[in-house]
Amino acid sequence: MHYTFEQYQQSADCIRQKIGSFTPKVAMILGSGLGYMGDIVENAIAVPYGEIPHFKASTAPGHKGRLVFGTLEGVPVAVMQGRMHHYEGYSYEEVAYAVRVLRLLGCDTLIVTNAAGCVNMNWKAGDLMLITDQIKIFMESPLRGENLPEFGVRFPDASHLYTPALQEVARKTAKELRIPLKEGVYMYFPGPQYETPAEVRFARIAGADAVGMSTAPEVIVAGHCGMRVLGFTLLSNMAAGILNQPLSEQEVLDAAEACKDKFSRLVLACLKELG
Ligand code: HPA
Repeated sequence: MHYTFEQYQQSADCIRQKIGSFTPKVAMILGSGLGYMGDIVENAIAVPYGEIPHFKASTAPGHKGRLVFGTLEGVPVAVMQGRMHHYEGYSYEEVAYAVRVLRLLGCDTLIVTNAAGCVNMNWKAGDLMLITDQIKIFMESPLRGENLPEFGVRFPDASHLYTPALQEVARKTAKELRIPLKEGVYMYFPGPQYETPAEVRFARIAGADAVGMSTAPEVIVAGHCGMRVLGFTLLSNMAAGILNQPLSEQEVLDAAEACKDKFSRLVLACLKELG
């Protein structure tokens, strides 16, 4: 099934009725560990996904399933507390549905964060990475199907999915805060099983620095509809096969908790610069 432009509009209209004249500028999709930022939004209006027509529920652990509108660092934002993943059973179009709705509501910028496995052997678990590019091969595109020209062109350029000027803001901000920030390529794997060691070696040869199960579909859709994108990865664990130990969700959640403070300081400081 493919969504029509009218369906995106219906979702946006429903939200507009709840948020009145408030116009969000920056959309934020926050992964493991940073979802709490939705709770610190000022003058918040929370809209559960279940109340929005055509929205899907998020079933991933630690993901709340609501949109929070309000201000953060003085910037009007829409925070997605809980994102959809392909491994939950959703199509890529469904995974990225909210991005287009937020675009219709006025967001011109998207900040995405995630937790991912570290492929780069020179780095360690707990490091933060600025995403400079992504690899999403093998899987179909969220843009597959009839193109909706209201959002963008049939064959969108993907040379700069992660906006160079925003990357520069992140580098400068990290330096000012003295938060070490790696930069590299995020490679998408659909999960829900973690990668095999052979897949991780493949990812490294392919040019990836991190492997994860989110973000890439939403960023493709954001690029298509002309949004600026800034992305960060928390390298929550060394990817499979690097250390002689199995991967677990608990390890990811523990790392997210341990890095929450530096990660949120960086994201909030960047947000302030974008406002
Ligand atoms: N692989 C994929 N997704 C992840 C990982 C990983 O190692 N860690 C956190 N999310």
